[in-house]
Amino acid sequence: KNIKLIEVPSEIGAGTRGASLGVEAIKIAALDYMSSFFVHFPCESIPVENKLLYEPIQSPYAKRIKGIVSMYEKVSKSVTDSLKGHFFPVVLSGDHSIGGATIAGIKIAKPKSKLGVIWIDAHADLHTPYTTPSGNMHGMPLAISINDDNKECAVHDLDPETQKHWQYLKNLGKIAPKVLPEDIVLISLRDFEREEKHLIDKYGIKVVSTKEVRSKGPENVVRSVLRYLSDCTDIYISFDVDSLDSSISKGTGTPVGNGLKEREAEDLISKFMQNRKVCCFEITEVNPTLDKENLMAEIAFNILQRSVNVVMMS
Ligand code: ARG
Ligand code: MN
Ligand code: MN
Ligand code: MN
Repeated sequence: KNIKLIEVPSEIGAGTRGASLGVEAIKIAALDYMSSFFVHFPCESIPVENKLLYEPIQSPYAKRIKGIVSMYEKVSKSVTDSLKGHFFPVVLSGDHSIGGATIAGIKIAKPKSKLGVIWIDAHADLHTPYTTPSGNMHGMPLAISINDDNKECAVHDLDPETQKHWQYLKNLGKIAPKVLPEDIVLISLRDFEREEKHLIDKYGIKVVSTKEVRSKGPENVVRSVLRYLSDCTDIYISFDVDSLDSSISKGTGTPVGNGLKEREAEDLISKFMQNRKVCCFEITEVNPTLDKENLMAEIAFNILQRSVNVVMMS
């Protein structure tokens, strides 16, 4: 398969500043390893909306959603075009709000697909503007993709303008939902709110804990997850680096303990990549401003490089 890199140095979806530097930090890590990785692949850089950080926010429950909408249009189009051009898109994004745009792009390119999503993340990212504790839209991409407002758990009222943008995001490409909850697997989930738990329980969303990865081993987990998703026609893997344990994931906005070891994440992801249904991969939430010696980006680069090698061979 031919790889296409899509860089999205977004950070308006995150609550902590600095994720927009994540993509460059990964490139610096490659240079420090004296790797020519980034020379070998076509690469598109998507313009982002970080200038909105200098303006007052419109809604506290969906911060800078207008900028998120504009990035969703561009990123989804880039992913769609890559897939239609028979490339394997690898998205390097600043914050995880972009995961929803990547999913939209896949679904628009493959409207008849039954899309499976493997979400490797400490978080469930299943909030909506009605339930969010932070207003940060990197906590919402999976709710956007399953098209559930979770009104049963609503704690906020939305202004009409925000509602309009939220509806637009969920219906991008006029396909909603883009993913069924039964086709989502959350790996290493360990930090979520009651409202997200409600959706996980309502749909019986599959969760694989860090403990399970450790006791069964990455290989067995990959096998059982792929079996669980066996009726899916295509699979997307989204890797939020905060899935890694906070002892090594200092360089990310929302670190959480009890996470994966570097080796566990690398083995999981590279084994998933061997499956021919996997059609797209994203790495997100590297924030070098919170880090020492660019460690998070180095780990992200190692995983990126190994995954891409596997894809190219299969
Ligand atoms: N659940 C929390 C929130 O909505 C944290 C989300 C963190 N998401 C992420 N992609 N790092 O604010
Ligand atoms: Mn996330
Ligand atoms: Mn996360
Ligand atoms: Mn199924």
